[in-house]
Amino acid sequence: MDHFNYHNNALHAEQVALTDIAAQFGTPCYVYSRATIERHYQAFTAALSGHPHLICYAVKANSNLAVLNVLARLGSGFDIVSGGELARVIEAGGDPTKVVFSGVAKTAEEIATALKAGIHCFNVESEPELDRINEVARQLDMTAPVSLRVNPDVDAQTHPYISTGLKQNKFGIAMERAETAYLHAQQLPHLEVIGADCHIGSQLTSLEPFIDALDRLLALVDRLAEHGIKLKHLDVGGGLGVNYQDEQPPLPADYATAIKQRLSGRKLTLIMEPGRAIMANAGVMLTKVEFLKQGDDRDFAIVDAAMNDLLRPALYSAWQEIVAVTPRHGTSKAYDVVGPVCETGDFLGKDRQLVLQPEDLLAVRSSGAYGFTMASNYNSRPRVAEVMVDGSQPFLIRQRETLQQLWQGEALLP
Ligand code: LLP
Repeated sequence: MDHFNYHNNALHAEQVALTDIAAQFGTPCYVYSRATIERHYQAFTAALSGHPHLICYAVKANSNLAVLNVLARLGSGFDIVSGGELARVIEAGGDPTKVVFSGVAKTAEEIATALKAGIHCFNVESEPELDRINEVARQLDMTAPVSLRVNPDVDAQTHPYISTGLKQNKFGIAMERAETAYLHAQQLPHLEVIGADCHIGSQLTSLEPFIDALDRLLALVDRLAEHGIKLKHLDVGGGLGVNYQDEQPPLPADYATAIKQRLSGRKLTLIMEPGRAIMANAGVMLTKVEFLKQGDDRDFAIVDAAMNDLLRPALYSAWQEIVAVTPRHGTSKAYDVVGPVCETGDFLGKDRQLVLQPEDLLAVRSSGAYGFTMASNYNSRPRVAEVMVDGSQPFLIRQRETLQQLWQGEALLP
């Protein structure tokens, strides 16, 4: 459930009309609801209560400082994949001791920074990475806490680009090699082996693949125990899907119940790395119709937002609901909702039934995750503003980029 609803024929974020936000901050812009973020985070903590756990919000889903700060205030940990994300977490007041560091190509510099910051754990994705972390820790005379990301080879049944737990994917250490890798890690003097992790993909809409992966991980935990390797935590990654159209993903409570059953009697802290499930439906992208254009074959609603602002439809053919902020009466028409970028793939939605006039405001729903974080400056378009609503007040949490910022750092030849 989210806090975007219609009152007096205008879509609101909590108590603020999106028409007011457009008037105050301009379009396009992202609008987030603090109450929705908090509600979604608390759905996870409530579901996991009774079992030792740490929620590490996946920063890549939405890394705005205000978003991270709202979650940090609730006690959230963070899953990061770069030095940049670690810096953001610290800048936003997040606790580095609740950070897990995933990613297949951590540089020596990133590892050193994370070690000095005192992060909870490195989620190691390959054997050579173990050696690199050990070497950096040796140079700093420190011990690095590590978990091995195991690739359980289960089919997440999601879009191929966001499926990560299959043999052919670049992520994690193959299950057949996991024991040998753990034995190697155990021998490295500057590593402390504390956990195991996996992440099989994103936007999963059934529990089965999660449970399959967990069972395979638990079998590994038992085999490791026979070698005298005792783990403290199990990190099941992120991936829980959300409702974009008519998907019916499991609730955090259903997922947690299934996990808790399997973990009962074991002394393993559970770590989860949800991103989308917390942020997707906590945000919309607000855009204005510039022109309505009749084509030979179809009608176009040309709006001021484009694929550089919200890439998911163009990149994954993702379907996100597009609604009128102030719906009109009348006969609807089927529109392709397209942006100003010079690419045929620049669309936000196709074949959408809408009643429209130029200047109308549209909201692309479920845009809080993998929206702004995947934005670019393609076509020299400044990145858009971000606004967070808290009750009856909207706050600008990122200014719209200026034209000067577009070429900041560039230089002419002498
Ligand atoms: N943990 C790891 C190691 C991950 O790679 C990811 C996402 C997550 C956690 C969070 O997964 P979530 O709970 O958000 O599903 N850009 C794509 C999604 C890419 C996900 C990449 N990894 C999209 O817009 O659909």
